[in-house]
Amino acid sequence: MRSSRPGPLRPLRRRAAAVAAVAVTALLAVTPASYGSAPAAAPAAPAARALAAPDIPLANVKAHLTQFQSIAAANGGNRAHGRPGYKASVDHVKAKLDAAGFTTTVQQFTSSGATGYNLIADWPGGDPGQVLMTGAHLDSVSTGAGINDNGSGSAAVLEAALAVSRARLQPAKHLRFAWWGAEELGIVGSKHYVNSLSTTDRSRISGYINLDMVASPNAGYFVYDDDPAIEKVFKDWYAGIGVPTEIETEGDGRSDHAPFKTAGIPVGGLFTGAGRVKTAAQATKWGGTSGQAFDRCYHSSCDSTANINDTALDRNSDALAHALWTLGTQAAPAPGTSFENTTDVAVPDGGAAVTSTVTVTGRTGNAPSALRVDVDIKHTWRGDLVVDLLAPDGTAYRLKNSSSSDSADDVVAAYTVNASTETANGAWRLRVQDVAAQDTGYIDSWKLTF
Ligand code: TRP
Ligand code: ZN
Ligand code: CA
Repeated sequence: MRSSRPGPLRPLRRRAAAVAAVAVTALLAVTPASYGSAPAAAPAAPAARALAAPDIPLANVKAHLTQFQSIAAANGGNRAHGRPGYKASVDHVKAKLDAAGFTTTVQQFTSSGATGYNLIADWPGGDPGQVLMTGAHLDSVSTGAGINDNGSGSAAVLEAALAVSRARLQPAKHLRFAWWGAEELGIVGSKHYVNSLSTTDRSRISGYINLDMVASPNAGYFVYDDDPAIEKVFKDWYAGIGVPTEIETEGDGRSDHAPFKTAGIPVGGLFTGAGRVKTAAQATKWGGTSGQAFDRCYHSSCDSTANINDTALDRNSDALAHALWTLGTQAAPAPGTSFENTTDVAVPDGGAAVTSTVTVTGRTGNAPSALRVDVDIKHTWRGDLVVDLLAPDGTAYRLKNSSSSDSADDVVAAYTVNASTETANGAWRLRVQDVAAQDTGYIDSWKLTF
């Protein structure tokens, strides 16, 4: 009744005024040259348009591999931890990055009685609270030059970093690149780096992308099945060129993403296969030779520049650039976004706990340290109720205890939870248990605000 009484005139007039306001804004936004053209021709705000990643020149990536081969040749045939070829590799990559405007740091550690080095390169700018890291191990085994394992990942990451510099990219996130030492001794360098970070600095890393063996001669196209946002950006890129991918299963945790993952940092990466044998189905979809290892020279002296699949190296370098441009320029999600469940859930009297689920999607990294939880439970004696927030991994955060003296009804409250150690994406649950007989109620609604 109330809405029909004033008739359609007033709402219509208000709508017309709004349209006029939009038109004025659009006209003000057009450039002088196109002034007077239709408002629809107004350009989109530049900040809202995602920049396309550059094509990474394969020749540049291969030139880095040639350098690694020469460094090995000049240093006893390898670039292994504790050998001069490793430090020469660090110096070479560092010089390129310094010349391109990166802030580089060499972190030392000791392993098996020898000094090891991690090379870290920060691209100035971006949100220091959202660091997107990309890394590759720079050491080889002692039996060879390690050109596929892992000159390929090292060269692809280096050339992607240099492309960031050439583009003078101003990403929303802070970009950090790393070349790890002593991976071949048991993921020593990256472990050392993650362990050396303060809890705060660790929480600032919103994602880590790993490239280890990305140009195997009998290549497969494997994407790590870890953080959904990183996985998606790689899968989307490969879908765009019509090349099928598979999930990486040749030993999860066998490279430098493992310490990041252990620390609760979202990880992802690319891989073209090591000692495992290519199946007939894989040869059908990717070409190459079935019944043969992805890399027959894995950890062998023949892992030289001849052991490189150019197509795989080119694709994975471009895929990495696409991931950096996409994830790096993605601004932090607008604060204040809520995820809500308004479906009623009955809470049995003096009975078992019940839950209501809210699924958070589209986030990278961890939940905030001040996660707001709004709870609306209708109940005739709120003292009966125990209320917890359950993170996607099942960790419980107590919001409210029961109390026999809390005689009011309903729980309508906003709680703040430090959820900074929890991955944001996933199924969060509100768990409510009525622990005493007689009074009853239901979860009316609840929501999470990030
Ligand atoms: N450097 C790794 C190793 O020697 C290579 C490797 C094997 C790998 N399986 C992997 C790298 C899976 C990434 C993912 O173990
Ligand atoms: Zn490796
Ligand atoms: Ca009760």
